[in-house]
Amino acid sequence: MLRLLRTTTFRVALLYLCLFLGSVGVILGVVYRSTAGFVESQLHEAIGEDIGALREQFDRRGLPGLIDAVRVRSAAPHTNSIYLVMAPGGVALAGNLSGWPGGAPDEQGWLHFTVADTGGPSGGPATARAVSFALPGGLRLLVGRDMSELDSVRRQIVSSLGWIFAVTAALGVAGGVLLSRSVLHRIEAINRTTRRIIDGDLSGRVARSGNGDEIDRLAGNLNAMLDRIEGLMAGLRQVTENIAHDLRTPLTRLRTRIELTLLREDEEPEAYRAALQDALAEADRLLSIFTALLSIAQVESRAQREDFRPVDLAEVAETAADLYEPLAEEKGLAFTTEIRERPVVQGNAQLLAQAVANLLDNAVKYTPPGGRVVLTVDRNRVTVADSGPGIPPDQRDAVLRRFVRLDDARATPGNGLGLSLVDAVARLHRAHLELDDNRPGLRASLVLPEA
Ligand SMILES: Nc1ncnc2c1ncn2[C@@H]1O[C@H](COP(=O)(O)OP(=O)(O)OP(=O)(O)O)[C@@H](O)[C@H]1O
Ligand SMILES: [Mg+2]
Repeated sequence: MLRLLRTTTFRVALLYLCLFLGSVGVILGVVYRSTAGFVESQLHEAIGEDIGALREQFDRRGLPGLIDAVRVRSAAPHTNSIYLVMAPGGVALAGNLSGWPGGAPDEQGWLHFTVADTGGPSGGPATARAVSFALPGGLRLLVGRDMSELDSVRRQIVSSLGWIFAVTAALGVAGGVLLSRSVLHRIEAINRTTRRIIDGDLSGRVARSGNGDEIDRLAGNLNAMLDRIEGLMAGLRQVTENIAHDLRTPLTRLRTRIELTLLREDEEPEAYRAALQDALAEADRLLSIFTALLSIAQVESRAQREDFRPVDLAEVAETAADLYEPLAEEKGLAFTTEIRERPVVQGNAQLLAQAVANLLDNAVKYTPPGGRVVLTVDRNRVTVADSGPGIPPDQRDAVLRRFVRLDDARATPGNGLGLSLVDAVARLHRAHLELDDNRPGLRASLVLPEA
């Protein structure tokens, strides 16, 4: 309950309730004033007429006339009028009041008193007001009204005012509680899901109401974010497993080699030397895997492109070609470089050269002797085409993943990391790597965004 009262919705509901009660109060206040004021002014008017009539009686017929008139009026059944004619000695001559009321008149000359004290027309206790006049000869006349009617009107208005206030307040509080309960309920569902995720269960999703309001949209965004995180986590787990798996083989090999060497006790020093050299080569291979993995990770983690400079793509291609041309020729491959344009792109020249070199490395490595390798630079793409076995269309996504090597490639040395780096470099440059059929062979293109 306390949490409910602390919700924003409840506070807003409460604020509106206060505003509403305020305006209801003002309206009821105006109604009260006009109703009670109307009754009051009517009473005043009636008293005024009474006074006029009695004075006329006094003027025309003297004291007996006045006493007569007062007697007749006082005797009227169910009257709410109050009269009293008083002789100088405090003797009541006529009227329906047993004694002159105490208290001093207010600024307007009104006497306020309670009728029960002096025995008024209604018998019971009631408030009354009256005006008094001094008549010639020390006589005093009091004309007034029993105000019970006005009082009851007032009481009624006040009591209905109280009811309206109470019902409005109750409705408002109940509405606020209901409203914040439903909001709290939905927020609680989100909180439960988040707690489950904090506890390690990434599969949890927030249930959506489907009405498209702000909470529903928030839930949708949360779910989309969770999907993304789950995907990333799965990818990360896959990579970690791959790394662990692929590093085990060379490490085991290294260990076996050392163990075997230790077991051979009677060998010549030359044999030990050869075994150590093998172990060194194996360690180098391991190191190269780590280096390759690290550079992929570095490229992938580099979110900003602050060190990007204008890079001449043709120059990048030529640098890589200079490195691989001798290797290609040594293997008996025809190597050609076609620079059709010299595009300048924003990027990191070293990484771009590494990517082109990796493509050339694959082409030279997987194309059998007698084949050819063509390096082309176009308006916004660098292409390496070869006449080797190529990559089947359904494997073209897979070879971009770390450690993935096709069965045909098992005979050649490699770690399955070259294309992963090319892909990472491409994405860093907002470019993409296209693998196509060269009929026969592979055509790998690094396609950079148009300037
Ligand atoms: N030009 C190509 N022709 C045929 N197959 C290729 C070619 N380039 C890549 N592949 C296939 O894609 C796989 C992945 O290539 P990638 O460059 O990532 O790794 P790798 O060459 O095996 O090892 P590394 O590049 O790490 O030394 C290769 O093992 C090979 O099966
Ligand atoms: Mg490679």
